[in-house]
Formats: sequence, C-alpha cells, structure tokens
Amino acid sequence: MIKIGIIGAMDLEVDQLKKEMSTLSIVTKAGMDFHEGTLNGTPAVVVRCGIGKVNAALCVQILADLFQVTHIINTGVAGSLNAGLDIGDILISKDALYHDMDVTVFGYRPGEVPQMGFREFTADPLLARLAKTACERVNPDINAVLGRVVSGDQFISSKEVKERLITEFQGDCAEMEGASIAHGAYLNQIPFVIIRAISDKADDSAEMDYPAFEAAAARHSAALVTELAGEIPASISCD
Ligand code: ADE
Repeated sequence: MIKIGIIGAMDLEVDQLKKEMSTLSIVTKAGMDFHEGTLNGTPAVVVRCGIGKVNAALCVQILADLFQVTHIINTGVAGSLNAGLDIGDILISKDALYHDMDVTVFGYRPGEVPQMGFREFTADPLLARLAKTACERVNPDINAVLGRVVSGDQFISSKEVKERLITEFQGDCAEMEGASIAHGAYLNQIPFVIIRAISDKADDSAEMDYPAFEAAAARHSAALVTELAGEIPASISCD
C-alpha cells in the first residue's frame, strides 16, 4: 500500500497540508510531530522536520522505520540559482547534491560524499514527471522547471557564493534540506522528489526578498504537493 511521507522544514511549509489532510493520529518523535492520515485521499504522513541537514535526515529515517512510507516528497522554498527561475516559480528535482561536502583533497569531486561512488542523488523520474504535469494542470500560470537542488547548512545570500554554486555544481536552486532527504531516501531505497517554490534569488537581495515572499512561495509548493498526493495511487502501483 502507498504511504507518502511529506517533509517541510518550517511550519509555513506544512501548515496548509496539515489543514487539508484528514488526520488520524499525531506521533511525536525526536521533537518532530508526525501527522498521519490521508491527503487528497492518499495515505500520508506530514511532518515539519526543522531546518538543516541533520533534522531532515533524522526525519527520513523515522518515516522509514516507524511509518514505513513508500514515497517521500520534500516541499518548501528555495533560493533561485537559475536566471529562468523567478520568485514564485517552482523547481522540481531531477537530482540533488550537497554544496558543503568537500573532500576534494583526497580526489573526490566537490559535493561528493566519500565512498559512495556518485555525487548526485537522482529523484524518482515518475514522481518528478507527475509533479510537473500536476503543476501544469493546477497552476498553469506558474513556471515549473525540472532541475538540480543544491543543499547545505547555509542560507545563500551573496552573489559570489551563488556564482560558485552555479559554476561548481550547476545548481538550479539552493536550500538546506533536500540533498540530505535524498540521501536518506536513497539509503532506505525510497523513491523521492523535492518540490521547491522560489522565495528569493540567493544573492544580495535575498535577505529582503525571503521574508516578503516565503509564505506565498510555500503555499505554491504545498498546493502542488496536495494535487500530486491525490494522483500517486492511480499512477504508481506498490505491493
Ligand atoms: N531557502 C530559501 N531561500 C534560501 C537561500 N537563499 N539559501 C538557502 N536556503 C534557502
């Protein structure tokens, strides 16, 4: 049976989902409240994990162990690294990687976790495709792009750092949880997708733009997640 784990880092990224779901139970673990029920008719667990990679990774492991989720969706906001992605637009992950993992001194590529044999965590192509078509249907005015999420324990708010994330990692958006959610999903063999609405441009204007646009951006992402949750059972079979 399908059960979707839906993770947002902050309250405003999951509040709308919690309102829309029919909740059967709330379980608290590691300081996180896991809301289990149905979202748009599909079994789901919605949780605010807190900010950053450690919170996000712990949350994935709890979703895997305690709730046996079959799919993971990360919803939230991000800074744009792609000139084609404006505030309010949506980035759907093709893949995700860490921008703050650096073991280049031993020959690894920037961002590569040693001894894994690869650098990018690939999102589930079917989930990503479903998210893109769901967005075109429910949000025809919103530009939704497939691309690369780069994550680190850092709010990106300078032109120089932004340029580095583009040239070194070819990132399309920067945020603080996606790659660790992808990493945890990979280790537990759970298909995942990251859906992020753009709240700022990850440059010197980010400090001003982020507070102004974060709530609206988070709503865009959550609306898409609700639509996607309703579609998954018909499109994906699960034993
Ligand atoms: N989340 C939203 N905007 C961000 C930024 N500029 N850097 C990191 N995380 C973000």
